[in-house]
Amino acid sequence: MTQPFPDNTFLSGPMAPSGIECDAPDLVVEGELPVDLQGVYFRNGPDPLYPPRKGEQYHWFHGDGMIQRFEFRGGRVAWRNRWVRTEKYELERAAGESLFGVLGNPMTADPSVADKHYNTANTHVIYHGNRLLALMEGTIAVELEADSLATVGNFDFGGKIDGPITAHPKFDHQTGEMVFFGNQAKGQFSEFLRLNVADRDGNLTKNEMIQGPFPSFAHDFFVTEKHVVFPIYPLVFNFERAIEGGVPMAWEPDRGAHLGVMPRDGTANDIRWFDMEARWSFHMVNAWDEDGGIKVDICASNATQFAPMLDGTMASESDGLSPHLRRWTIDLKGNTDAVGEEILDDMACEFPRTDDRFMTRSHRHAYLVGSEQKQLLFNRLIHYDMLTGARKVWGDGRYMLGEPILAPCSSTSDEGDGFLLNLAFDTTTGVNDLLVFDASDIEAGPVARARLPVRIPSGFHGTWVGA
Ligand SMILES: [Fe+2]
Repeated sequence: MTQPFPDNTFLSGPMAPSGIECDAPDLVVEGELPVDLQGVYFRNGPDPLYPPRKGEQYHWFHGDGMIQRFEFRGGRVAWRNRWVRTEKYELERAAGESLFGVLGNPMTADPSVADKHYNTANTHVIYHGNRLLALMEGTIAVELEADSLATVGNFDFGGKIDGPITAHPKFDHQTGEMVFFGNQAKGQFSEFLRLNVADRDGNLTKNEMIQGPFPSFAHDFFVTEKHVVFPIYPLVFNFERAIEGGVPMAWEPDRGAHLGVMPRDGTANDIRWFDMEARWSFHMVNAWDEDGGIKVDICASNATQFAPMLDGTMASESDGLSPHLRRWTIDLKGNTDAVGEEILDDMACEFPRTDDRFMTRSHRHAYLVGSEQKQLLFNRLIHYDMLTGARKVWGDGRYMLGEPILAPCSSTSDEGDGFLLNLAFDTTTGVNDLLVFDASDIEAGPVARARLPVRIPSGFHGTWVGA
């Protein structure tokens, strides 16, 4: 029998667990679903089956991965959700309680899972090489059946990758390639990253080990038509500090941030490092080659409270905690190792996406969620037109539950010609809606709202797979 969930920010309000798997064949829709909207929207996020082990503080990143699947066809939308049957999920479900420590902490785990695999598969869900894959960055991918969402099992690229895979692979829609990396690729606390490329069928074609300046928390990276960039931020892992009872990860701004640039057809020997003052970022918008250099649009902040500093205190608001849309410039022609930075807006933002077809190439449109209160409760949907500099914002008090996704009208339509999808939570009614906007005019409000019959928790990342 499962126990009540404890009082915790990450277990209440928009983040409260659902505890349920559903099949809703035809959701109630307010407004009109566009006839051009044909395909499937997949979204991943944490939805813990059990409360944390006794005495443990739950963390948002720890919940079991739950895939939401919305299929749009003929002006209707069907919804299905399923937990990813990871080894963790199966073991805990059989036991009827949490066995793993929060975030895989071995010190608080049940002895029965000492040699078992900690995988929540809760961060992103991608579709590549005719495979639907659930990802978390700490370990390998889990394959799911795309219609039923039944778990197929761990996917290791034909036995070639048994280590961590980023939750943020990049897709080159010209070549069909998926470019991805693994952080701490030579074991926990190691400063090595592994770069991989899979061709359009999912066959591994590149496997390169890269040594970073220090072991860091690297959630995302940048890929252009010609380059890969590894961002190393000063959220630093330290094994010696951890075994002496200190924090395993600390914010060490004095170490600065470092961007390692490697040609996509090059090797680790070709990496050139560029430096900047301490920065932190979970997610970038997109990166591209321009004028003999690299441009990166990114949600970045000057500091983070994701880990304490070396003296045990947290970085303060005056250190610059709010992520803003910025443009970084790497000059590959000049003799400078400095990174240029331009702050493009002062609205706090996160979960940035583009029209995925333009990933690795220059883009015009960026879609994000934001907050005017400079805090990470996102109640705004934002569209930036990078060509004109125009910003459009929509909000009616609902919380945005993760990132917006652009569903193009068709595979050949112009960039941004399509619909923006985002799940939202109404705090007054406790209801979740899947909102559908005309991506060119989000300020007009959603053209349709598909009502979920039960509420689901806030989540992270998703993918549109056109019909
Ligand atoms: Fe992410």
